[in-house]
Amino acid sequence: RWHLDNDSQNLQNHPSIIESAKLLRQGEVIAFPTETVYGLGANALDPIAIEQIFKAKGRPSDNPLIVHIANRDQLEELVQGISPVAERLIDAFWPGPLTLIFDKKGVVANNVTAGLNSVAIRMPNHSVALSLLLAADLPLAAPSANLSGKPSPTNAEHVWQDLKGKISGVLDGGATGLGLESTVLDLTTSVPTLYRPGGITQEEIESVIGPIHLDPALKVEKEKPKSPGMKYTHYAPSADLFLVRNRQDIPYHIEKAQKEGRRVGVLTVDEHSHDYGADVVISCGTNQNLKTVAQQLYGTLRRFDQEEVDVIFSETFLEEGLGKAIMNRLDKAAAKRYL
Ligand code: TXA
Ligand code: MG
Repeated sequence: RWHLDNDSQNLQNHPSIIESAKLLRQGEVIAFPTETVYGLGANALDPIAIEQIFKAKGRPSDNPLIVHIANRDQLEELVQGISPVAERLIDAFWPGPLTLIFDKKGVVANNVTAGLNSVAIRMPNHSVALSLLLAADLPLAAPSANLSGKPSPTNAEHVWQDLKGKISGVLDGGATGLGLESTVLDLTTSVPTLYRPGGITQEEIESVIGPIHLDPALKVEKEKPKSPGMKYTHYAPSADLFLVRNRQDIPYHIEKAQKEGRRVGVLTVDEHSHDYGADVVISCGTNQNLKTVAQQLYGTLRRFDQEEVDVIFSETFLEEGLGKAIMNRLDKAAAKRYL
């Protein structure tokens, strides 16, 4: 586990980056920080290295990975064609939390894309991630560095809790900035299709390329998602999580669960943190600024695990801007259980 100062000069020559890059070139897996969440990286051109990612996470093999790159040259090596729409998005949002899906070239290992003909690519906006990519001189496939099903890691400690002993190392660059995964947009469909809401909002994308489609799975409950990863249980704490649309109802649910002998948690915001008599009340930020909520959401879910609560009642958030990504993750963490 290597500690790094995000602002240190010349990161590319930092001993921990050089060591990690060497291990990656030898086919090992290394966790590293990005601006969204920590990723678990391996050489995207080497199917045997990629196999180690799936093994360490316990990830189903039909769920494809995102390939991380540091520059345009790498993009051209990996994908078939870069349309004018893609160019505009890249100019506007890379490096940054927008993953784009292209038709892939043959060099990309088949298990990276779970056998699909398309590949998801992003250029992270984080100095440690970019330095590592340059030092390794490889495209790195990297899912979030958590055990499959658990909340994504927003600091190196979270990675350690899940993957210690299963991976070759963690570059510790402190807490991640955004706290939620990148937006995933498919550019292989006739109209670009949003699969996962994230740090770059639908509104921001549409301001650059005009109207896009939403994967029906983001709207209708029963629809089977097109993006393989969106069908699995995700981000889930050990306790049963319920989303309560009307927060006035939370005290009733607390009382009922406590009468049944359960240890009760409430996930709330600063504005309401004194309103509940639960066993564990945790604020994940302020309604005044949803960035604070995004940043702390996964860490908060992990804290409830440590507090060993049996049930969590969570407030909901306005589905606007970043609120869409926050509610998408809560919806999955709660397996769509609303009260
Ligand atoms: O912010 C992020 O994107 C983080 C950091 C580490 O970069 N990574 C991340 O990776 O969230 P992961 O593996 O947890 O999520 C990748 C998502 C999954 O939902 C997967 O199904 C989808 O992207 N995906 C990847 N390749 C795809 C493809 N070719 N077609 C459709 N969906 C794809
Ligand atoms: Mg993930």
